[in-house]
Amino acid sequence: MTEPLRIALAGLGTVGAGVIRLLDANAELIARRAGRAIVVSAVSARDRHKDRGVDLARFAWEDDTRALGERGDVDVVVELIGGSDGPALALARGAFAAGKGLVTANKAMLAHHGLELARAAEAARVPLRFEAAVAGGVPVVKGLREGAAANRIAQVYGVLNGTCNFILSRMESEARDFDEVLAEAQAMGFAEADPSFDIDGVDAGHKLAILASLAFGTEPAFDDVALEGIRHVLRADIAEAAALGYRVRLLGMAEASSARLFQRVHPCLVPVSHPLAHVTGAANAVVAEGDFVGRLLFQGAGAGAGPTASAVVADLIDIARGNVGPPLSMPSDLLTPAVRAEPGDRRGRAYLRFTVADRVGVLAEIAAAMRDAGVSIESLIQRGVQADGSVLVAIVTHEGPERCVTAALERLRGSQSVAGRPMLMHILD
Ligand code: NDP
Ligand code: HSE
Repeated sequence: MTEPLRIALAGLGTVGAGVIRLLDANAELIARRAGRAIVVSAVSARDRHKDRGVDLARFAWEDDTRALGERGDVDVVVELIGGSDGPALALARGAFAAGKGLVTANKAMLAHHGLELARAAEAARVPLRFEAAVAGGVPVVKGLREGAAANRIAQVYGVLNGTCNFILSRMESEARDFDEVLAEAQAMGFAEADPSFDIDGVDAGHKLAILASLAFGTEPAFDDVALEGIRHVLRADIAEAAALGYRVRLLGMAEASSARLFQRVHPCLVPVSHPLAHVTGAANAVVAEGDFVGRLLFQGAGAGAGPTASAVVADLIDIARGNVGPPLSMPSDLLTPAVRAEPGDRRGRAYLRFTVADRVGVLAEIAAAMRDAGVSIESLIQRGVQADGSVLVAIVTHEGPERCVTAALERLRGSQSVAGRPMLMHILD
């Protein structure tokens, strides 16, 4: 065997400690598959004395993460700190400047700075790999970048956030409320340091921007992703969806047509017959539609120490083998700038839920707003009086332009009949 691949780990939390455990447990197998050993030279985190359940005494310690990239005994830096900027970005930039490769699980950094980092890696002729950044342990980055590389991809969509999927699954299976289940997801190590990144759709948006770039050969364009999370999904919405034959999932969806790119993260109603309806707990799944391969479905554990470490080490094995192509789907100077598509041009069906006052004329007012905006109603359910005297009205629309539904909601804004924020979920047909 040749010389080992020498790595430095920055960040020893859920994923960092998981990487050490995996490298220890499967060292011999990994060396055989990679053609050489993968050894840790140095590590860094904030607190040197924290017990992380792994033996760190055998590695050099750096208080300043940036020093990892400057060490002579390191070939590849593994960034597992997180955050789009700050120490993670400084470490990545420093690693390339020092001629080191980088493996990262940091989708926030890639969504915001992916193009800059890809260019820096290419200029330095060093690898940049990020399998763990999208869908945890699911090899979808490799699947799109390599397995589906010969195809034109029309659409890529899926369940991209384990925390949200865990919460929605529990809300459904245990008929519990959002706030109760969020605490459980945090305790299991899935949630981001700031869990609003998960529940407001930001984390899924980061992953979608990376997937869209890989699928369509466009520059990552996180600012063009329309974001809505699951904060306002009620247990009642999940029950109504179930009664109608759907499950609620937070989907990221990207489509390319007529040189325009549509990217959105949104809670959606998914028919129970669709594979994404059966993705439960912290699992993730991504569907990609290629012109020659047809529909691909990538599915598996989307978060957690073991699955994410598996993806990080897969990247290291690739690098150890010398499999080093461009970081994105093609050299970064060939990527095209993304041009945002107007969501209002899309057609589809929608689920709308209103909390209304229990009085004469309320339904007529909602129906009139729909009629005036050109929205055709497929079904309407009114559920009896809640503890606070309000009533829930759930509507499913016929297929039509999304801008009409937006216009109907705009008409109802400020109405005395409608309490709080109406809920809009698109339907995956
Ligand atoms: P954790 O919060 O568990 O760990 C973060 C680590 O970074 C900790 O060891 C922490 O040190 C260290 N750190 C934080 N700030 C600094 C700093 N300023 N300087 C040096 N070290 C610092 O995060 P995760 O392991 O969950 O996530 C790591 C990355 O992996 C993130 O980008 C995340 O988005 C991504 N990811 C996470 C997944 C998961 O399931 N958890 C799945 C896929 C990707 P200390 O321990 O001393 O506080
Ligand atoms: N917080 C992320 C999630 C971790 O819940 O999906 C995996 O990227």
